[in-house]
Amino acid sequence: MCVNPKNIAILGSTGSIGQSSIAVLKNLRDRFRITYLTTNVNIELLEYQIRQVHPYGVVVLNPSQAEKLKKRIEGVEVLVGTEGLLEVVRRDNVDIVLNALVGFAGLRPTIEAITHRKHIALANKETLVVAGAIVTTLAREYNVPIVPIDSEHSAILQCLTGEERSTVKKIILTASGGPFLNTPAEQFPSITVEEALKHPNWKMGNKITIDSATLMNKGLEVIEAHWLFNLEPQHIEVVIHPQSIIHSMVEFIDGSIKAQLGYPDMKIPIQYALTYPDRLPLEVCTVNFPQLQCLTFLAPDLVKFRCLQLAYDALTLGGTAPAVLNAANEVAVHAFLERKITFDRIPQLIEQSLAAQRNHRVPEFEQTLEADRTTREFVRNLLA
Ligand SMILES: NC(=O)c1ccc[n+]([C@@H]2O[C@H](COP(=O)([O-])OP(=O)(O)OC[C@H]3O[C@@H](n4cnc5c(N)ncnc54)[C@H](OP(=O)(O)O)[C@@H]3O)[C@@H](O)[C@H]2O)c1
Repeated sequence: MCVNPKNIAILGSTGSIGQSSIAVLKNLRDRFRITYLTTNVNIELLEYQIRQVHPYGVVVLNPSQAEKLKKRIEGVEVLVGTEGLLEVVRRDNVDIVLNALVGFAGLRPTIEAITHRKHIALANKETLVVAGAIVTTLAREYNVPIVPIDSEHSAILQCLTGEERSTVKKIILTASGGPFLNTPAEQFPSITVEEALKHPNWKMGNKITIDSATLMNKGLEVIEAHWLFNLEPQHIEVVIHPQSIIHSMVEFIDGSIKAQLGYPDMKIPIQYALTYPDRLPLEVCTVNFPQLQCLTFLAPDLVKFRCLQLAYDALTLGGTAPAVLNAANEVAVHAFLERKITFDRIPQLIEQSLAAQRNHRVPEFEQTLEADRTTREFVRNLLA
């Protein structure tokens, strides 16, 4: 029994990772107490979560939704907007910030949390894609750990535990390949939103599900891995593994390869991020190898899935290029979900943005924000 449970703020508690995090924390009550929950607009689910979890306060990004919630609940502070998010991560009754926001919106709260010496459990990969150099430098300066929730990065962390970093030859990130692994490229223009939202192995939020269908998700993860594990792009390989049982691997200088396996359930990496380096019991499905019979692998098709190649290119370019990649992708995915563009337009818009936007080689934070803003404007103009 822990005498002093750690206080956690879950940013994005109404999302896929947020909900799984609450489920995980239900069984870790002696170690953690949830002090804050947040949503963009989903106050119905947030209200349900408030009654389950009894946090001190909540943040609602959307002001009119926040006003509605205030009329419906008592005894819980309701903060509003981005200022509300930044306010809660600064508070003394928060030790750990679990960032499960989606997209660029996750960046500023992560930075605010680091500079207030809060430990970070990070699902929001866009934070490291957009401003990896700034965020990791700050984390070192403030001596704050950033522990990944992404299953691939959790797998790498687990494989690296107990190993000398200088003995790592490369890491191998696995990718399911998404729903269009076997779809000919000629059919990409006619892919529907419904088809793209049907991921074969994982149930996730809409944005990451589309990113998985284009393989941009793997591209973002390559950039995330670069910053988390300090590896150059040529030492980060991607392999397609449709069963999603091996979550990633590390190859060492003696030819040994360590892999982390498990049933695809985000509760496993979420709990590991919170209890790292400890392992605690968790009720989840386990892998039945005789039933599986085989695990298969193939190289990604970087021509058909251009987004993955573009992410490698942006990482190699460095500077503000990954921020441009991310911003263009966010606007393009949103436009696809709104049925304003076809599926094949997503990589085209990103490529056009990377070609058009100026790259600041060693960006200040303001230049990163500017790269994000101007890219969004550029893509919206192309779409208008
Ligand atoms: N889902 C997974 O299995 C998985 C796996 C690995 C990594 N990740 C990463 O984890 C992050 C979250 O993914 P998810 O699938 O959980 O996303 P999601 O289901 O869309 O949830 C996102 C959460 O953030 C809130 N939100 C959305 N836009 C916001 C904004 N502009 N400002 C503040 N809050 C906002 C949402 O509120 P509403 O509910 O009101 O929309 C929701 O609570 C992403 O970076 C993703 O790449 C996810």
